[in-house]
Amino acid sequence: MQRIFHRTQSIITNNRAIGANIMSTNTTDNARKVTTRRLTEMKQRGEKISMLTAYDYSSAKILDEAGIDVILVGDSASNVMAGNMTTLPITLDQMIYHAKSVMKGTRRALVVCDMPFGTYQGNPLEALASAVRIMKESHAEAVKIEGGSEIRESIERILSAGIPVMGHLGLTPQSINKFGTYNVRAREEEEANKLIEDAKLLEEIGCFGIVLEKIPAKLAERVAKEVSIPIIGIGAGGGVDGQVLVMHDMLGINKGFSPRFLRRYADLAGVMTDAVQNYISDVKSGDFPNAEESY
Ligand code: KIV
Repeated sequence: MQRIFHRTQSIITNNRAIGANIMSTNTTDNARKVTTRRLTEMKQRGEKISMLTAYDYSSAKILDEAGIDVILVGDSASNVMAGNMTTLPITLDQMIYHAKSVMKGTRRALVVCDMPFGTYQGNPLEALASAVRIMKESHAEAVKIEGGSEIRESIERILSAGIPVMGHLGLTPQSINKFGTYNVRAREEEEANKLIEDAKLLEEIGCFGIVLEKIPAKLAERVAKEVSIPIIGIGAGGGVDGQVLVMHDMLGINKGFSPRFLRRYADLAGVMTDAVQNYISDVKSGDFPNAEESY
C-alpha cells in the first residue's frame, strides 16, 4: 500500500515536470490542465469558474479529482488551520508549506497561493523575493495579493519575473485593523469608484484575474463587465465570472462562521463528531478492535 502511494505521488510529480501547463493529448476538456489563459477563455465563453481553498495534500486531491478549476492556498489557513483570529499572523514559510502540500495532490486545477501580510507591502524587491520563494519552493502556479494602486509597483515587479498575479479587492482581510469590521465594502460612491479604478489598473498592468470580496452585487457585476480578466466573487453576487469559498466553511467543518454569502454543502463537523463518538464508545466497550482487525 505504501509503495502504491509513493508511485501515485511520483506520477503526479512527473506530469508536472513534463509540462503542467500543457494540455494532455487524448483527454476530454474536463481533464485538461487549467491555466491562467484557460480561465480567460472560460470568461470569454461565459463558463463560470469554480474556486475553493485547500491547505493540505489530501483535501487538494479530493477537490482536484472532483473537478474544481482553481485551488486557492488562502491565508485563511491562518484562521481555519492555525486558529488565529485574523489572517495577519501566518508567515511566508507556513504558506509555502501549505502550498507545497497542495501541489502534491493537484493535477488539473490551477493552484494560486496567497502572499501573506507583510511580505509585499514594503517595497517591490521584497515583494518579488517573496513571490519567487513561493514559486520556487512550493511550485504553486500563481500568487494572489490584496490591494490596488497602493501596491502597483510590487505587482509590476512580480509580473516582470513571469509570475502570474491574481488581485484581491473589496474586503481585504489583511487590512482588518484599518477597516475595523468585516462588513460589506464599497457601498459608498467614493470607495466604489476607487475599486473600479483599481480593477482596471490590475487588468492594465497584467493581472490574470481578481477576487472581489464582500461588495454589492451590482458593483461586482459592473466590474466583471468592464474588465476582460476573470472576476471571482466571494460575497459579491452572481454577476461575476466565478465563485470562491473557504472549503472549511462550505463543508461545515468550521461552523463558527455564517455570513449571508456562505452556502453550506455539508455538515462535516457533524459527520466527524458522530464518527469520533462511535470510535470512543467502541474503544471503551472493547468492541474495537475485533478478531478480524487484529493480527
Ligand atoms: O484567504 C482566503 O481564503 C481568501 C478567500 C477568502 C478569497 O483570500
